[in-house]
Amino acid sequence: MNKLLKKISELKNPYFDLQAEIGITKHMGGFEATRELIDLCHIGKNKHILDVGCSVGRTMCSIAKRYNCRVIGVDISERMIERAKERSKREGVKNRVGFLIADVQSLPFEKDLFNAVISESVTAFPDNKQKAISDYVRVTKPGGYVGLNEVTWIKTEPPEELVECLYKAAGGIKPETSDGWKELLEGAGLKDIMVKPYKITMIKQFINEVRQIRFADISKAWYRLLNLYIISHAYRKAIKEMIIDTRNMPKRKIMFKYWGYGIYVGRK
Ligand SMILES: C[S@@+](CC[C@H](N)C(=O)[O-])C[C@H]1O[C@@H](n2cnc3c(N)ncnc32)[C@H](O)[C@@H]1O
Repeated sequence: MNKLLKKISELKNPYFDLQAEIGITKHMGGFEATRELIDLCHIGKNKHILDVGCSVGRTMCSIAKRYNCRVIGVDISERMIERAKERSKREGVKNRVGFLIADVQSLPFEKDLFNAVISESVTAFPDNKQKAISDYVRVTKPGGYVGLNEVTWIKTEPPEELVECLYKAAGGIKPETSDGWKELLEGAGLKDIMVKPYKITMIKQFINEVRQIRFADISKAWYRLLNLYIISHAYRKAIKEMIIDTRNMPKRKIMFKYWGYGIYVGRK
């Protein structure tokens, strides 16, 4: 049966299922933030890297290509991993990458394996963030780095309404303040923790997203979205619900007053 003809009840998380189908995911700060994360995690030639929540594989393939690293990508979504595999073939790095479907709260690796573990806009989703970060640390080599780019409350107390709307509209996200993220890294036993929170404007985030995702990927995504809307009842319903959730969010300008992103890096 055509995979797209799923029932709405078969969509595990419509927000991510839709992103996986259209082949686009994103994180705040775009490539600039990814470059900073790579630098702070000392990712260089021939290292062994884990990208948790790799989704469609953009960051992992670019690290494999640019630094000749061996990169493993983990994601909870089978469809995201399929997209990441397709990308690794397109980008000519399939011999340097590997993939696993797994939950970041329980990584299927032995301890002390990777030079660096990175996660971009992923660790704000699991129920037990401390368990997830502690597992990132477990699989990192002594002296290696764990680095996150995560959605961050810039003001300590966002209105409850905003917290709820964001949770509903963005796949169950639960951001932390920068102190909250720092405590989680400390709780996992990391040392020399760096905390770099960034405020972001709506315009800047829009430019980041356009620069981060190539034109070819954007046009393919629009084509896939239209196709899904036409042929799949489940996705049509999910898209309509997402539009309603987004419309119900407090004005975007207000949201950007409260939230931004942060880069958090520690050494094992
Ligand atoms: C917002 S996307 C960001 C993806 C990518 N890192 C990027 O920067 O474009 C979040 C990704 O995390 C994955 N994810 C969410 N919760 C997860 C979990 N508990 N375990 C593994 N992956 C998870 C989703 O399937 C999705 O691919």
